[in-house]
Amino acid sequence: MKRDRVKHSWAEPYKIKMVELLKMTTQEERENAIKEAGYNTFLLRSKDVYIDLLTDSGTSAMSDKQWSGMMLGDEAYAGSENFYHFEEAVKEYYGYKYVIPTHQGRGAENIISRMLIKPGDIIPGNMYFTTTRLHQELAGGKFADVIIDEAHDPENEFPFKGNVNIQKLENLIKNTGAGRIPYLAIATAVNMAGGQPISMENLKELRYVADKYNIRIIHDMTRVAENAFFIQQKESGYSDKSVSEIVKEICSLTDGATMSAKKDALVNIGGFIALNDYDLYEEARNLVVVYEGLHTYGGLAGRDMEAIALGIAESVNDDHIRARIGQVEFLGDLLIHAGIPVVKPIGGHGVFLNAKKFLPHLEQTVFPAQTLAAEIYIDSGVRSMERGIVSAGRNKETGEHNFPNLELVRLTIPRRVYTQAHMEVIAESIESVYAGRESIKGLKMVYEPKYLRFFQARFEKL
Ligand code: F0G
Repeated sequence: MKRDRVKHSWAEPYKIKMVELLKMTTQEERENAIKEAGYNTFLLRSKDVYIDLLTDSGTSAMSDKQWSGMMLGDEAYAGSENFYHFEEAVKEYYGYKYVIPTHQGRGAENIISRMLIKPGDIIPGNMYFTTTRLHQELAGGKFADVIIDEAHDPENEFPFKGNVNIQKLENLIKNTGAGRIPYLAIATAVNMAGGQPISMENLKELRYVADKYNIRIIHDMTRVAENAFFIQQKESGYSDKSVSEIVKEICSLTDGATMSAKKDALVNIGGFIALNDYDLYEEARNLVVVYEGLHTYGGLAGRDMEAIALGIAESVNDDHIRARIGQVEFLGDLLIHAGIPVVKPIGGHGVFLNAKKFLPHLEQTVFPAQTLAAEIYIDSGVRSMERGIVSAGRNKETGEHNFPNLELVRLTIPRRVYTQAHMEVIAESIESVYAGRESIKGLKMVYEPKYLRFFQARFEKL
């Protein structure tokens, strides 16, 4: 008799066939390295990092199939065969009609923003993302946050903290006038909220509002499969649907998308714009030639497009995504059991430490999350990222810091890269920093770049 084994474990549906050796460093070496990096984990050299949780972007391990696809690169300037594979995959798995490759997500954001935003426009969205908002601003627009209030509260365990507050959105549309709103910028698995999903119910309500006021929905689909998994697990009516079916349903409720394929789609570089409207597609196809490259490569090599085509198919596989999110939850649960303040529920692409609660004695103006990320690196060589006041930047009009409610350190888990033992090392290190938290002092910023300051800002210890 055939037995269907009940799947209790998130264990990986793959095995390891090649490894990358890591350098083990001493605490003294790490203290020097982070000082030289201006206490900014973005400025560390990766050779000095043991476990790299800076980002899940472009850091995935590709499969043997993807690597063999790399050998099939058709490096023609125009009409590469790999482009057609890539186009087919986007149509098949996401359902959008037209697709244009870009070098990565922000290339797509640049083109969408230039194409749709006029100076003075308002772009409502479910929380900002750094590059997305900057492109909106550079095009003369202003971002308006319409995410539900729960998303700004790290302790609130609402399962769909990526939802839009529909009432807030409708009030904004009425006050601004629909004519000043070029599109709704709706992200799945909202990054800055902690990788929190939006529900299908909320997406349907959004579709209704968008149709009522004749406004487009542009979907930031960077982590759409992770969002779909949460819908499958938590939303009624979806437990029998596959992640792949749910992904397609999500996309069907929107008019177009920008994608950073460096996340969900399991590649090291790439992105795209997807659209259903032919006229917009034509305009985007014109613009892509100016900023990225011809519309059949958009800044990518043929081999990169092949890897994306294969990665998209792997990314929506149920076994893959259960292991992916299972691993993130495993780390989250270790930290929760140790009493470490984290954003709840645990999100899709990482665990977010609540630095305000971890270091309650530090004012936000001495950069608690930036400080905590540096301390964790010194303790164990684990590299994380600030997602707080430094990332939030300054108010464009007043020049003051933006003071976000969420002052977080992101422990972002690359896909298919680290093991359960690595997760245990991370948790041990954070516990040891937590035990010594009272003696931790803050930082002062000594160099501040004009755009996206978190990438290159430098700090000194107070
Ligand atoms: N949208 C979201 C939700 C993202 O998380 C990112 C990148 C982008 C757009 C831009 O895409 O990097 O390919 O140009 N997020 C990375 C991160 C950088 O670490 O969260 P990109």
